[in-house]
Amino acid sequence: MTDQQRIKHLTQTAMVTALIIVLGFFPGIPVGFIPVPIILQNMGIFLAAELLGRKYGTVAVALFLALAALGLPILSGGRGGAAVFAGPTGGYLFAWLLSPLLIGTLLERTHAKAAHNWWRELIIVWLAGIVFIDVVGAVWLAVQSHMGLLAALLSNLAFIPGDLIKATLAVVIARRVRAVVDFGIPA
Ligand code: BTN
Repeated sequence: MTDQQRIKHLTQTAMVTALIIVLGFFPGIPVGFIPVPIILQNMGIFLAAELLGRKYGTVAVALFLALAALGLPILSGGRGGAAVFAGPTGGYLFAWLLSPLLIGTLLERTHAKAAHNWWRELIIVWLAGIVFIDVVGAVWLAVQSHMGLLAALLSNLAFIPGDLIKATLAVVIARRVRAVVDFGIPA
């Protein structure tokens, strides 16, 4: 990879990190029965994976999480700080870091970015984005909040309709953006 390509990738990565931050400007909507809000910011995680692939997608999300851990108020609702990572939403944040690796690897291996394979891309983002993140988040929520695992998993069903809309929108947007911007990531 040339220096020019590396600079291009890093610039695109920083832009996606900025996008994740902007999506956090929308405040979370409390669901009431668990201390985890409905948010828009996880759509940025899906977009990071789809636009940047596993390596730079992970870098974009890691950068975002590092800034949040350092105390920048960039998580939905203007939160930040290391304590959030040990709180009820810590599992989701941990899964956000792994999700681009999972989504990016599956997209590459199945050639799901090809024009006619849109349905594969959709299923991969639903599974490795929504299901993976919500299950890891629920497991940590159960441990952290001393609630039953089944109750934690069932309570996460409240996120599924919104997450399905966000993930589907992310696939539509990513396909349009990739058609006009060269991210240099294998299809
Ligand atoms: C945080 O800001 O502390 C993380 C919030 C995590 C919210 C999770 S992400 C998956 C699921 N979908 C939502 O809309 N909310 C939860």
